[in-house]
Amino acid sequence: MATVIAGISGAIGSALATRYLQDQPEQTLIGLCRYPEQVPEALQQSSRVHLLPWDAAAPEHTLQNPDIEALLDRYGGIDDLIYAAGLLHDDGMFPEKRLEDLSADNLARAFQVNCIGFGMLVQALARGLRGKRLKRVIAVSAKVGSISDNHLGGWYAYRCSKAALNMMVKNLSVELPRRYAPIACVALHPGTTRSALSAPFSQSLASLQVHDPAETADNLFGVIQALTESDNGRFVSWDGSDLPW
Ligand SMILES: NC(=O)c1ccc[n+]([C@@H]2O[C@H](COP(=O)([O-])OP(=O)(O)OC[C@H]3O[C@@H](n4cnc5c(N)ncnc54)[C@H](OP(=O)(O)O)[C@@H]3O)[C@@H](O)[C@H]2O)c1
Repeated sequence: MATVIAGISGAIGSALATRYLQDQPEQTLIGLCRYPEQVPEALQQSSRVHLLPWDAAAPEHTLQNPDIEALLDRYGGIDDLIYAAGLLHDDGMFPEKRLEDLSADNLARAFQVNCIGFGMLVQALARGLRGKRLKRVIAVSAKVGSISDNHLGGWYAYRCSKAALNMMVKNLSVELPRRYAPIACVALHPGTTRSALSAPFSQSLASLQVHDPAETADNLFGVIQALTESDNGRFVSWDGSDLPW
C-alpha cells in the first residue's frame, strides 16, 4: 500500500503522515515537499517514508522524477493521494483586507500553490498510474474557499485560490471514475489548526475551536478512511459533515 502526501513538511501534512505510519503498519508513504531536510526527523528516519523534492510553484521541473514512477510500479498504485500543501502568507504576502491590497503576483502565487500545483500533481501521477489503482484523492481545502458561505469578504488570494481548488476537485470527481473506479475525490476542510499558516491569526482565532495538528490528523484520518465511492465529489469538513460550495 502506498499513500502520497504533498506538503508533508507542513503541520497538517506531517501529523497526517505520522498518523498513517502509526495506524497502518503495511503503509508506505511518498512524501513531497520543497525541502525534505526540513521534514520532522522521525519521518526522515522512517524506512517506510520516501521523501522526494517537489515545488508546487514549479511542478514541471520536479515531477519528471523517475523515482515517483518506480515507486508507483513497486506498490501497484496509490491508495490515498493527499494534497496538504497550501499558502496563505509569507514574507511578501499577507491576506488582503480590501481591494487596494490586491497584488497580481500574490494572486498568481496563491493560485499556483493552492490550486494549480494540485491539478498538475494529479496529471503527473496519472501518467504513472495507467493500469494501476487510485482509491482516494483528497485536496485539503478551506471553509473560506466556500463561495456561498462568504459573508465577510477579504482574503482575496486565499479565498479565490481555494474556490478554484474546489472546482478542480469537482472536475476530477467527474473524470477520474472513468479511469480508476471505484474512487472518491473530495475537498476536505481540516478545521482551524495550530500551524505556521494560522499563527499570525492566533488572537482572532481565540474564540474559535482550534485544534492541535495531531488532533486534526486524527479527525482527517477518520474521515479519509471512511470515504467510499458514494462520497466522490463532496466538500467535506473535518467532522465528516458537508460544506456548501
Ligand atoms: N491551519 C489551519 O487552520 C488551516 C485551516 C484551513 C485550511 N488549511 C489548509 O491546510 C493545508 C495545510 O496547512 P498547514 O496548516 O499545515 O500549514 P503549514 O504548516 O504552513 O504547511 C503548509 C505546507 O504547504 C507547503 N508549501 C507552501 N508553499 C509550497 C510550494 N511552493 N511548493 C510545495 N509546498 C509548498 C509547505 O511546504 P514548505 O515546507 O516547503 O514551506 C507546507 O508543507 C493548507 O492547504 C491550508 O490551506 C489550514
